[in-house]
Amino acid sequence: MRVALADHPLIATKLTELRDETTPSPRFRGLVDELVTMLAVEATRGLRTVPRPVTTPVAPTVGTALAAPKPMVVPILRAGLGMLDGFIRLVPEAEVGFLGMVRDEETLKPTTYAERLPADLGGRQCFVLDPMLATGGSLGGALRFLSERGARDITAICLLGAPEGIAALEQLTAGLDVTIVLGSLDEQLNERGYIVPGLGDAGDRLYGTV
Ligand code: PRP
Ligand code: URA
Repeated sequence: MRVALADHPLIATKLTELRDETTPSPRFRGLVDELVTMLAVEATRGLRTVPRPVTTPVAPTVGTALAAPKPMVVPILRAGLGMLDGFIRLVPEAEVGFLGMVRDEETLKPTTYAERLPADLGGRQCFVLDPMLATGGSLGGALRFLSERGARDITAICLLGAPEGIAALEQLTAGLDVTIVLGSLDEQLNERGYIVPGLGDAGDRLYGTV
């Protein structure tokens, strides 16, 4: 597993505003959208391409197009849905699949309550969207799910991660080709499994249910 940690002043300033407890939901959603688009540039660095002939007003040349099959992007509901628009703005060719997962706030174990994905993901480059990598249970479950469907090239985009979650994912993804693109590696988890300093409950802040 590779971890690519963002290092850009605009990502840092937008994450700071996102963390601010006084940032209201509409602004929070806008910031998530902008952050994902920036992180997606790094996350899609390895997209496969083919040559594409094109004629400019001046001359014919050979440019680049995305190779088939189309990349697959999978937001983990609910909070990952807030990252979808920012990703597909950059990669409109991507096909969208869905995984609904929620973690039990007592045991911190995730359960999967919805799934809409192709049965065969062999040969597909997959991108998983989830803002928070806390214990790693949800993302680990999602990555396992995709690999069981044949995905071998998976990149996850997370806004914030905890060292505990990264360590857990190292175990859970042994033998898989996985990259995590992370906006910030925070300090730790608290006793309730929240990322510290974090930003609170991402889903609640996105959808105004605080
Ligand atoms: C949040 C978040 C991740 C998960 C991270 O979702 O969006 O999916 O927690 O925690 P973990 O790394 O310990 O598994 P939540 O379960 O709160 O559901 P929601 O997106 O519907 O709010
Ligand atoms: N889920 C969240 O939304 N926030 C955290 O800090 C941890 C899990």
